[in-house]
Amino acid sequence: MQVNLLKKPVSTQNLILLTDQIQFVYQNLEKETAQYFEKEWEKEAFQFLKTPKGYTFLVKIEKNNKDAVRKAANKVHGYLSQLENAILISDQNAMTLRFIEGLLLSDYQFIKYLTEAEKKKFKLQSIDVVAPISKSEIVEIQNIIQSVYWVRDQVNEPASHLSAEKLAHEIEKLFEKTEVKVEVLHQSKIEALKMGGLLAVNKGSIAPATFSIVEYKPKKAKNEKPIVLVGKGVVYDTGGLNIKTANYMDGMKSDMAGAAAMIGAIDALQKNNIPIHVIGLIPSTDNRPGGEAFASGDIIKMYDGTTVEVLNTDAEGRMILADALAYANKYKPELVIDAATLTGSAVRALGNRVSISMGNAKDKYFKQLYDAGIETHDRVFRFPFWEEWAEEMKSDVADLKNLGGANAGMITAGKFLEHFVKYPYIHMDIAGPAYLEAADSYNGKGGTGAGVRLLYQFLKNLK
Ligand code: BES
Ligand code: MN
Ligand code: ZN
Repeated sequence: MQVNLLKKPVSTQNLILLTDQIQFVYQNLEKETAQYFEKEWEKEAFQFLKTPKGYTFLVKIEKNNKDAVRKAANKVHGYLSQLENAILISDQNAMTLRFIEGLLLSDYQFIKYLTEAEKKKFKLQSIDVVAPISKSEIVEIQNIIQSVYWVRDQVNEPASHLSAEKLAHEIEKLFEKTEVKVEVLHQSKIEALKMGGLLAVNKGSIAPATFSIVEYKPKKAKNEKPIVLVGKGVVYDTGGLNIKTANYMDGMKSDMAGAAAMIGAIDALQKNNIPIHVIGLIPSTDNRPGGEAFASGDIIKMYDGTTVEVLNTDAEGRMILADALAYANKYKPELVIDAATLTGSAVRALGNRVSISMGNAKDKYFKQLYDAGIETHDRVFRFPFWEEWAEEMKSDVADLKNLGGANAGMITAGKFLEHFVKYPYIHMDIAGPAYLEAADSYNGKGGTGAGVRLLYQFLKNLK
């Protein structure tokens, strides 16, 4: 979908009016149409009229409800997807940008495997915008949403078509013509480095593991020490020998959503030339119960030398993340953030509308992250991170075990990870919002791109 900025509307067909002023409705609509909307103005924030000349939509801005406009855009998109062009007229700046964002987020489809994809494809080609916004503001949003699309594509791609090596290759392709450097460590290098956690999870698979290192280092970066973003890249999680039962395996192609989100955030930063030095680390493998699979009771020597007693092979995310977090120490970072579809308990605690954060970084970082979440509606909520939960992860036969008690599993997992990081740290469990079984407004069914808009906003404004 194209977005064109115009000075004047070129037609009156399929008009969207976005405003908080009834006068604005009068200025821009023919008398009869305006009168129709006037009657409803106080009652409904979203309404439309269909005439032989096309649709007219009215979206009344509600104060203090920033996300309402994205959601209204999704409703409008429901009609527009079958039309080719529409004109958006508004007297608003920020709200117009959010409306465009909502339209773009709604315009995504994953239909590449349908034989008759052409028939299902949205027809919407372009939106002409007449509003007090600038070209560069539009471009910024388009760039971010392009990164979100990339993330959704990777998450929706099934394991049959996305191995660890393929994911690494997609990352290389994404940054091919940019200033972002990508280095992919392959199986033999990972073995030489003794990344025991990643190798343990990979043992039951016939496909090799990868470890991708991505660096975006713009010339005038505002930070002296890099921000390191670590993403869980489990391309498929069967649970391993502790195999997932019944339908718990459904959707586990999305277990690399953390990896995709981190890459997507870096991509959005680079596309918009945000001056911040960021490094991305992506450990990747599938988790399967094949011949040599790691098993409960195994003791694994991790990349940093820590020994871990495996008590559940389905707690694989923390095994591969631990090695990446330990690897991050060599950069002496200002801050390390990871994103992972790590625990079912995160989903049970807060459902699928919000990510969970926790960690030992200064409060100011958590505050800025929370604010970025509210601003983008890609929200995150902080959980406690007290020492007692670390106690649960101690083992009698190794330094740590990979399984905590029955409760607060999202926090014991975070405490396990904290053991490996020597720098200020934020852990994000995105298991809830990363992947949806049913569409929720502009976040469609499947991969959502959760974390991309959040981290872009956070890093762009980082103080
Ligand atoms: N990838 C899963 C977590 C998950 C569950 C993500 C549901 C999205 C939706 C993770 O690897 C996992 O299996 N976690 C276990 C950990 C447990 C064995 C300690 C879980 O949460 O059940
Ligand atoms: Mn698992
Ligand atoms: Zn997993």
